[in-house]
Amino acid sequence: MTEEQTRVRTYPPPEEFAARANVRDAGIYEEAARDPEAFWAGRARRLHWFREWDEVLRWDPPEVQWFVGGKINASYNCLDYQVEQGRGEKTAIIWEGDEPGDTRTLTYSELKAEVEKFANVLKSLGVRRGDPVSIYLPMIPELPIAMLACARIGAPHSVVFGAFSANSLRDRINDCEARVLVTADSGPRGGKRTPLKANSDEALEDAPSVENVVVVRRTGDDVSMVEGRDHWWHELMAGADPECPAEEMDSEDILYILYSSGSTGKPKGIVHTTGGYLTHVNTTTDWVFDLKEDDIYWCTADIGWVTGHSYIVYGPLSNGATVLMFEGTPAYPASDRWWDIIERHRVNILYTAPTAIRAFMKQGTADIEKHDLSSLRLLGSVGEPINPRAWEWYHEHVGGGRCPVVDTWWQTETGGIMITPLPGITTTKPGSATRPFPGIFAGIYDDAGNEIEGEGSGNLVIKRPWPGMLRTLYKDPQRYRETYWEKYGDVYFAGDGARRDEDGYFWITGRVDDVINVSGHRISTAEVESALVGHPSVAEAAVIGRHDEETGQAIVAYVILEGGHEGNDEMAQELRQQVRKVIGAHARPQEIIFTPDLPKTRSGKIMRRILRRLSEGQEDLGDTTTLADPSVVETLRAHAGGRS
Ligand code: PRX
Repeated sequence: MTEEQTRVRTYPPPEEFAARANVRDAGIYEEAARDPEAFWAGRARRLHWFREWDEVLRWDPPEVQWFVGGKINASYNCLDYQVEQGRGEKTAIIWEGDEPGDTRTLTYSELKAEVEKFANVLKSLGVRRGDPVSIYLPMIPELPIAMLACARIGAPHSVVFGAFSANSLRDRINDCEARVLVTADSGPRGGKRTPLKANSDEALEDAPSVENVVVVRRTGDDVSMVEGRDHWWHELMAGADPECPAEEMDSEDILYILYSSGSTGKPKGIVHTTGGYLTHVNTTTDWVFDLKEDDIYWCTADIGWVTGHSYIVYGPLSNGATVLMFEGTPAYPASDRWWDIIERHRVNILYTAPTAIRAFMKQGTADIEKHDLSSLRLLGSVGEPINPRAWEWYHEHVGGGRCPVVDTWWQTETGGIMITPLPGITTTKPGSATRPFPGIFAGIYDDAGNEIEGEGSGNLVIKRPWPGMLRTLYKDPQRYRETYWEKYGDVYFAGDGARRDEDGYFWITGRVDDVINVSGHRISTAEVESALVGHPSVAEAAVIGRHDEETGQAIVAYVILEGGHEGNDEMAQELRQQVRKVIGAHARPQEIIFTPDLPKTRSGKIMRRILRRLSEGQEDLGDTTTLADPSVVETLRAHAGGRS
């Protein structure tokens, strides 16, 4: 079947599922559209507030405030409030380590106790309300514990994904001027170890704000501890006071900063605040994943990305869910690891990325057939467009044809899910994220700023503020305005292309800016280029994302070397290593093409569109009349043979 033919098929919610679904009445869309503020206020009331707000929304584009005057604490909502509702003995986290059989569970009471102690540890290290704390940890329970401890005392956390290099960690620490860093000796993943403490030491050579480092002993690997600066987590915890009441935070106090790639080299410090964000992730978790009291919920993302923040930590825990947290990779120690986890822990809800689904698809169904996946009742997808064939495969082979699939579109900036099916009422079409969540107003604009009504394609926008919206870029309000609001005034520019079909369903077509999406990881072309030109042999580099069957996009780098250097395999390896060192392993180019020239406009701007088409082997390169030197195309074609 071709992709087009697959697209025609539609999937109404299975009857049995629909009958028990958390949302059964499609009237909710209209109700939310009629009075979005009342709708969101109603949702906010599911949370615990120390004091209710005076005003639901204050919108002075692009500045937004939700639940103005309300007092709330995210950690209290994820812990104390759950215990108060009788979930003290309920399992909050089932942790599964890199090695099979290495598991640990924490009830809500146990998690609360750990968080309170660690909050006191942070206080004893001088962390006060408003002081950012950097966290660089593997996928271990100490990661959500550290986050919730920060939230408890009102210290914004800045989690840095464990695969980031020392250099990236340093930049992120310096941008928010954290005084405390929480890390581990090393992080095991797929049988390999990332030297987190050694990376931290290197980062801290040039990160003067950090006064204290807390180190979790995860593997027992030998690490050097700096006297007076570095402390073992377990030693500080052993002496910590067990009680730490949650601070009454303002609804608009910062909950966290999370760095994400933009279209320029410097990562953006995306700022999320407390009341609106929590309302958004709490409600979307409940409705999109149709969470039930006894569900075992597994989101396979790393907490170092926004998906983990919103849908491993704050969304599920504020709903009192049992969350499975996995440290490892799908292929270790064997290619059936995920299916083994689902079977052993009786997972009911699985939320993952298309890239993983496509990788499994390539392996065939033998691994799946070895396991009993009958506990699954809902499947989710996030991070990149899911092609209809992968959707179908996921539905049929993982979900046994009985589980609704929710394809959820959102971004680090949006905080929570924005366009998605509601599994009990939405008829899905493979490849479409379907409709905006109730209370979310998505639209499509053309480049000139005209709204495209009905069917059509253009740039995806959000027309009204929503509760989980980013509030600004940390210490860079100017860039916040320029990136998201300059293009269309008081309408949010998402940076994605989209098409709306005859039923009003949205089909996301991918980024319209210089951001690449590799396996659901956002990488900026400018960042990779700047890492490459940091190598002494490189004169110039242009980086593009080429369509890739498995990872969605793959990074291809066109490199001009300084005179005298040879573009061979060894050099390509060295350059990949350079990118790994400067950014992290996930940003290494799949292919490096050495070339004597690059396609540029007369004003010297690199025409990446041409490179993209060339790398995909397309004959038609589009309009090449603006090239300063049209003969460069032939040179590049000739050099495509010299790829490494
Ligand atoms: O291009 C869109 C793609 O991922 C981008 C956001 O990346 P990030 O901030 O890292 O957050 C990822 C997890 C929310 C978007 O601009 N994207 C995300 N989900 C989808 C998607 N593209 C198509 N369909 C999706 N469901």
